[in-house]
Amino acid sequence: MSILQIARLGHPVLRQVARPVGPLDRAGLDRLVADMMDTLAESGGVGLAAPQVHESLRVVMFRVPPWRGGGVEVPLTILADPVIEPLDGPQVSEYESCLSIPGLTGLVPRWSRIRYGGWGMDGAWVECEAEGFHARVVQHECDHLDGVVYSMRMDDLVHFGFSDQIRRMGSVDAE
Ligand code: NI
Repeated sequence: MSILQIARLGHPVLRQVARPVGPLDRAGLDRLVADMMDTLAESGGVGLAAPQVHESLRVVMFRVPPWRGGGVEVPLTILADPVIEPLDGPQVSEYESCLSIPGLTGLVPRWSRIRYGGWGMDGAWVECEAEGFHARVVQHECDHLDGVVYSMRMDDLVHFGFSDQIRRMGSVDAE
Protein backbone atom coordinates (compact mmCIF):
# COMPACT_ATOMS: atom_id res chain seq x y z
CA MET A 1 0.00 0.00 0.00
CA SER A 2 1.15 3.48 -0.66
CA ILE A 3 0.17 7.09 -0.63
CA LEU A 4 -0.66 8.33 -4.11
CA GLN A 5 -0.05 11.74 -5.59
CA ILE A 6 -3.24 13.78 -5.86
CA ALA A 7 -4.03 15.46 -9.18
CA ARG A 8 -4.64 19.17 -8.74
CA LEU A 9 -6.99 21.44 -10.66
CA GLY A 10 -5.60 21.94 -14.15
CA HIS A 11 -4.62 18.29 -14.65
CA PRO A 12 -6.61 16.88 -17.59
CA VAL A 13 -7.53 13.69 -15.69
CA LEU A 14 -9.87 15.82 -13.55
CA ARG A 15 -11.79 16.90 -16.67
CA GLN A 16 -12.29 13.43 -18.15
CA VAL A 17 -15.41 11.30 -17.90
CA ALA A 18 -14.07 8.26 -16.07
CA ARG A 19 -14.67 4.79 -17.49
CA PRO A 20 -16.92 2.27 -15.75
CA VAL A 21 -15.33 -0.48 -13.67
CA GLY A 22 -17.69 -3.04 -15.16
CA PRO A 23 -16.58 -6.65 -14.80
CA LEU A 24 -13.88 -6.13 -12.26
CA ASP A 25 -10.26 -6.79 -12.42
CA ARG A 26 -10.54 -7.54 -8.72
CA ALA A 27 -6.86 -7.62 -7.87
CA GLY A 28 -6.22 -4.38 -9.69
CA LEU A 29 -9.14 -2.67 -8.01
CA ASP A 30 -8.22 -3.97 -4.56
CA ARG A 31 -4.78 -2.46 -4.93
CA LEU A 32 -6.15 0.87 -6.15
CA VAL A 33 -8.73 1.01 -3.38
CA ALA A 34 -6.15 0.15 -0.70
CA ASP A 35 -3.87 2.91 -1.98
CA MET A 36 -6.78 5.37 -2.14
CA MET A 37 -7.67 4.52 1.49
CA ASP A 38 -4.09 5.27 2.54
CA THR A 39 -4.08 8.48 0.53
CA LEU A 40 -7.40 9.65 1.99
CA ALA A 41 -6.32 8.83 5.54
CA GLU A 42 -3.06 10.71 5.07
CA SER A 43 -4.85 13.74 3.61
CA GLY A 44 -7.36 14.02 6.45
CA GLY A 45 -10.11 14.51 3.86
CA VAL A 46 -13.58 12.96 3.85
CA GLY A 47 -13.75 11.73 0.27
CA LEU A 48 -11.70 10.76 -2.73
CA ALA A 49 -12.47 9.75 -6.30
CA ALA A 50 -10.15 7.63 -8.44
CA PRO A 51 -9.56 10.39 -11.03
CA GLN A 52 -7.99 12.42 -8.23
CA VAL A 53 -5.22 9.83 -8.06
CA HIS A 54 -4.81 9.78 -11.85
CA GLU A 55 -7.01 6.69 -12.40
CA SER A 56 -9.86 7.54 -14.73
CA LEU A 57 -12.15 4.89 -13.24
CA ARG A 58 -15.60 5.22 -11.67
CA VAL A 59 -14.58 4.51 -8.07
CA VAL A 60 -15.33 6.78 -5.10
CA MET A 61 -14.86 6.59 -1.35
CA PHE A 62 -16.25 8.84 1.36
CA ARG A 63 -17.06 8.98 5.04
CA VAL A 64 -19.02 11.28 7.30
CA PRO A 65 -17.42 12.06 10.65
CA PRO A 66 -20.02 12.49 13.43
CA TRP A 67 -19.22 16.18 13.79
CA ARG A 68 -20.13 16.79 10.14
CA GLY A 69 -23.25 14.68 10.10
CA GLY A 70 -25.05 16.18 13.08
CA GLY A 71 -24.03 13.21 15.21
CA VAL A 72 -24.71 10.67 12.48
CA GLU A 73 -21.53 8.93 11.39
CA VAL A 74 -21.16 7.16 8.06
CA PRO A 75 -18.18 4.80 7.98
CA LEU A 76 -15.86 4.76 5.01
CA THR A 77 -17.93 3.67 2.02
CA ILE A 78 -16.33 2.54 -1.24
CA LEU A 79 -18.40 2.28 -4.40
CA ALA A 80 -17.74 1.36 -8.00
CA ASP A 81 -19.95 2.75 -10.78
CA PRO A 82 -22.09 4.83 -8.39
CA VAL A 83 -25.36 6.44 -9.46
CA ILE A 84 -27.27 9.31 -7.84
CA GLU A 85 -30.94 10.25 -7.97
CA PRO A 86 -32.08 13.55 -6.40
CA LEU A 87 -35.08 13.23 -4.06
CA ASP A 88 -37.67 15.87 -3.18
CA GLY A 89 -36.20 18.87 -1.50
CA PRO A 90 -34.42 22.07 -2.34
CA GLN A 91 -30.86 22.63 -3.34
CA VAL A 92 -28.86 23.95 -0.40
CA SER A 93 -25.59 25.88 -0.54
CA GLU A 94 -22.69 25.11 1.79
CA TYR A 95 -18.97 25.64 1.59
CA GLU A 96 -16.95 22.77 0.15
CA SER A 97 -13.29 22.06 -0.30
CA CYS A 98 -11.45 19.50 -2.40
CA LEU A 99 -8.08 17.78 -2.13
CA SER A 100 -7.51 18.70 -5.78
CA ILE A 101 -8.02 22.41 -5.03
CA PRO A 102 -5.90 22.73 -1.89
CA GLY A 103 -6.35 25.74 0.34
CA LEU A 104 -9.52 26.99 -1.32
CA THR A 105 -13.20 26.77 -0.50
CA GLY A 106 -16.40 27.79 -2.22
CA LEU A 107 -20.15 27.96 -1.69
CA VAL A 108 -21.81 25.19 -3.73
CA PRO A 109 -25.49 24.37 -4.26
CA ARG A 110 -26.33 20.65 -3.97
CA TRP A 111 -29.44 18.52 -3.70
CA SER A 112 -30.33 18.27 -0.03
CA ARG A 113 -31.64 14.69 -0.32
CA ILE A 114 -30.54 11.95 -2.67
CA ARG A 115 -30.72 8.23 -3.21
CA TYR A 116 -27.49 6.64 -4.37
CA GLY A 117 -26.27 3.22 -5.27
CA GLY A 118 -23.10 1.50 -6.37
CA TRP A 119 -21.16 -1.74 -6.27
CA GLY A 120 -19.47 -2.39 -2.95
CA MET A 121 -16.08 -4.03 -2.79
CA ASP A 122 -17.71 -7.35 -1.84
CA GLY A 123 -19.48 -7.32 -5.21
CA ALA A 124 -22.91 -6.53 -3.73
CA TRP A 125 -25.06 -3.60 -4.85
CA VAL A 126 -25.36 -0.99 -2.10
CA GLU A 127 -28.25 1.47 -2.01
CA CYS A 128 -28.79 4.28 0.43
CA GLU A 129 -30.71 7.51 1.03
CA ALA A 130 -28.73 10.47 2.25
CA GLU A 131 -29.27 14.05 3.29
CA GLY A 132 -27.22 16.97 4.51
CA PHE A 133 -23.46 16.60 4.52
CA HIS A 134 -23.73 12.91 3.60
CA ALA A 135 -25.67 13.79 0.44
CA ARG A 136 -23.21 16.58 -0.32
CA VAL A 137 -20.04 14.50 -0.11
CA VAL A 138 -21.54 11.79 -2.34
CA GLN A 139 -22.51 14.39 -4.98
CA HIS A 140 -19.06 16.00 -4.75
CA GLU A 141 -17.19 12.71 -5.22
CA CYS A 142 -19.44 11.42 -8.01
CA ASP A 143 -19.01 14.72 -9.87
CA HIS A 144 -15.29 13.91 -10.13
CA LEU A 145 -16.25 10.85 -12.23
CA ASP A 146 -17.82 13.16 -14.79
CA GLY A 147 -14.96 15.63 -14.91
CA VAL A 148 -16.70 18.16 -12.67
CA VAL A 149 -15.13 19.94 -9.70
CA TYR A 150 -17.10 21.97 -7.16
CA SER A 151 -16.04 25.36 -8.49
CA MET A 152 -17.87 24.50 -11.73
CA ARG A 153 -21.09 24.12 -9.70
CA MET A 154 -20.85 27.50 -7.99
CA ASP A 155 -23.50 30.15 -8.65
CA ASP A 156 -21.31 33.09 -7.70
CA LEU A 157 -17.52 33.14 -7.61
CA VAL A 158 -17.64 35.94 -5.06
CA HIS A 159 -17.99 33.05 -2.56
CA PHE A 160 -14.73 31.40 -3.66
CA GLY A 161 -11.57 32.00 -1.67
CA PHE A 162 -8.85 30.73 0.60
CA SER A 163 -10.16 28.56 3.44
CA ASP A 164 -8.06 30.22 6.12
CA GLN A 165 -9.12 33.68 4.98
CA ILE A 166 -12.81 32.84 4.83
CA ARG A 167 -12.65 31.01 8.15
CA ARG A 168 -10.98 34.04 9.69
CA MET A 169 -13.87 36.19 8.50
CA GLY A 170 -16.05 33.90 10.58
CA SER A 171 -18.61 33.19 7.90
CA VAL A 172 -18.12 29.48 7.40
CA ASP A 173 -17.07 26.21 8.81
CA ALA A 174 -14.70 25.61 5.91
CA GLU A 175 -12.80 22.37 6.10
NI1 NI B 1 -13.01 16.79 -4.61
